[in-house]
Amino acid sequence: MMRIARASWRALGLTGLIAAVTLLAGCERPPVDAVQRGYRGTGMEQIYNPRSVAAAASANAVPVDTPPVPEGGPASKTVFKNVQVLGELGVGEFTRLMVSMTAWVAPQQGCTYCHTTNFAEDTLYTKVVARRMLQMTKHINTDWKTHVAETGVTCYTCHRGQPVPNNVWFNAAPQKQAGSYAGSDAGQNKPAPAAGLASLPYDPFTPFLQQSPAEIRVVGTTALPTGNRQSIKQTEWTYSLMTHMSESLGVNCTYCHNTRSFAAWDSSTPQRATAWYGIRMARDLNTQFLEPLAGTFPATRLGATGDVPKLNCATCHQGAFKPMYGTSMLATHPELTRITVQSPGAAASAAVADAAAAMATGAPVAASGKGATLLFAVGSSTLASDAAQSLEPVIEALKADPAAKATISGYHSAAGDLAQNQELAKQRAFAVRDALTAAGIAADRVVLDKPQSAEANVAGEDPKARRVEVATK
Ligand code: HEC
Ligand code: HEC
Ligand code: HEC
Ligand code: HEC
Repeated sequence: MMRIARASWRALGLTGLIAAVTLLAGCERPPVDAVQRGYRGTGMEQIYNPRSVAAAASANAVPVDTPPVPEGGPASKTVFKNVQVLGELGVGEFTRLMVSMTAWVAPQQGCTYCHTTNFAEDTLYTKVVARRMLQMTKHINTDWKTHVAETGVTCYTCHRGQPVPNNVWFNAAPQKQAGSYAGSDAGQNKPAPAAGLASLPYDPFTPFLQQSPAEIRVVGTTALPTGNRQSIKQTEWTYSLMTHMSESLGVNCTYCHNTRSFAAWDSSTPQRATAWYGIRMARDLNTQFLEPLAGTFPATRLGATGDVPKLNCATCHQGAFKPMYGTSMLATHPELTRITVQSPGAAASAAVADAAAAMATGAPVAASGKGATLLFAVGSSTLASDAAQSLEPVIEALKADPAAKATISGYHSAAGDLAQNQELAKQRAFAVRDALTAAGIAADRVVLDKPQSAEANVAGEDPKARRVEVATK
């Protein structure tokens, strides 16, 4: 009797051990280091695994570079036949850059990775891609300082001595729809490294780091059940992206978020704002520089859906909170910010302008200054049909900057009974307030501000007098 019991206990112990090992396989083996980054008790800690840190450190070591050469000398465009981007560089700097590019991108293959015996020819696709990459590098270093600061990037940041960077991604192949009520599984339960081998959607990049970006914010800004239209499914996509961001930088969620509220910008760390720009930058680079190379890359380089290889946070960061832990290689390669970029086409410059505009409306810190003026018909406090359109920039700005508030003031014209008109001005302000709260802006962020004199200082029935002004700050 005793023996049987002991044997089954042992069997149970073994099963338990196997179960424990299986369940914990996804966890990191101790010891780990913890660094406190916020008030105690708030869970604002970074957990570092010394083994992952060591791996990231060796992956992010800075290579030895060729010594700088003096600026100036004859411009390379006067010496060579087919220089479209580097034309203004002196021959000395030009030649050194070719040597560095070879070391950064194709050290094993050498100059012939991009060149035939006639250096001026564009026969190899690699040269055409490299020219575009030169433009992209300059674009990152000059137009995306909101993310890369003065540290900037060189070819090495992504390539690390290889023609194809360690981390590129392709659009997920379309799913076979299950012939039942199961429907699409949104790419779940197919453990992918991008999603930390979790059951989260395995391609968070197509919706967030490519064209027509989906909304990443999912937390409601009003008391439930009003306002918030984001589903659990959408939330899982957001978590998948966040997992990728954490893994790419080798950090925990609390590197950017405060455990008190993941949505609130005012208690998030400054790194979250940098990351916000990083998301927009990755999107811009993928759509403006890599996608247009679709006809240039050979079929072997394309993905299952015929799409080009694209970049994400890991392409540059490779496990470090700053690529190469913040060492700038631009210091010895100032030409990578100086080269003239003939813009890759009108479309790209428009896109940069769009991104700048998006930054103005959507940036976490740029809501102030957005305003709107809404006009009303005589004696009416009903919103005009174009009201939603006029309020759109205000709503976007408020959503992007949760600390911002809207101030609303109603006005009336000089004609008619003053008491009635004052009531009308108030009702107009209420109508605009209701439109903002209906769009998901919390009521306590909408301030009604009765103007000193609601009567516009324009005579009679001037249509501009019957209005509501909205300002954000
Ligand atoms: C990663 C690709 C790549 C590698 C490797 C590379 N080059 Fe280039 N090379 C280019 C590109 C792109 C241009 C054109 C630049 C432009 O249009 O401004 C160019 C242009 C040139 C030109 C000008 C030719 C002309 O008459 O127009 C010379 C010379 C040259 N490279 C020499 C070299 C040498 C020498 C090496 C090896 C040390 C080398 N390159 C390695 C991409 C590369
Ligand atoms: C922000 C990241 C990034 C930077 C910076 C960058 N590249 Fe690239 N590069 C990529 C990606 C992503 C690809 C696509 C990978 C592929 O070809 O499969 C690529 C592809 C290439 C290819 C084609 C390789 C092949 O075999 O298909 C060449 C050549 C190249 N880059 C050269 C350069 C040069 C030269 C620079 C610096 C002037 C540079 N890259 C800077 C991300 C980058
Ligand atoms: C490198 C910084 C960074 C890290 C690390 C990070 N996040 Fe985020 N997170 C952001 C940014 C930036 C946004 C807003 C994105 C946007 O609006 O484009 C965001 C948004 C979110 C949101 C939506 C909040 C809202 O307003 O609805 C959630 C939820 C979230 N993150 C969860 C997480 C989780 C969970 C982790 C860890 C697995 C994590 N984040 C790691 C930067 C980060
Ligand atoms: C083109 C290369 C590149 C890409 C792509 C990129 N980053 Fe960065 N990132 C950098 C560089 C360079 C810095 C260092 C800037 C500095 O020194 O302040 C940086 C800094 C950061 C920081 C600030 C870290 C700190 O401690 O101050 C965060 C956070 C960050 N990146 C998040 C992201 C996220 C999230 C993504 C993807 C959505 C991303 N990055 C994509 C190049 C890149």
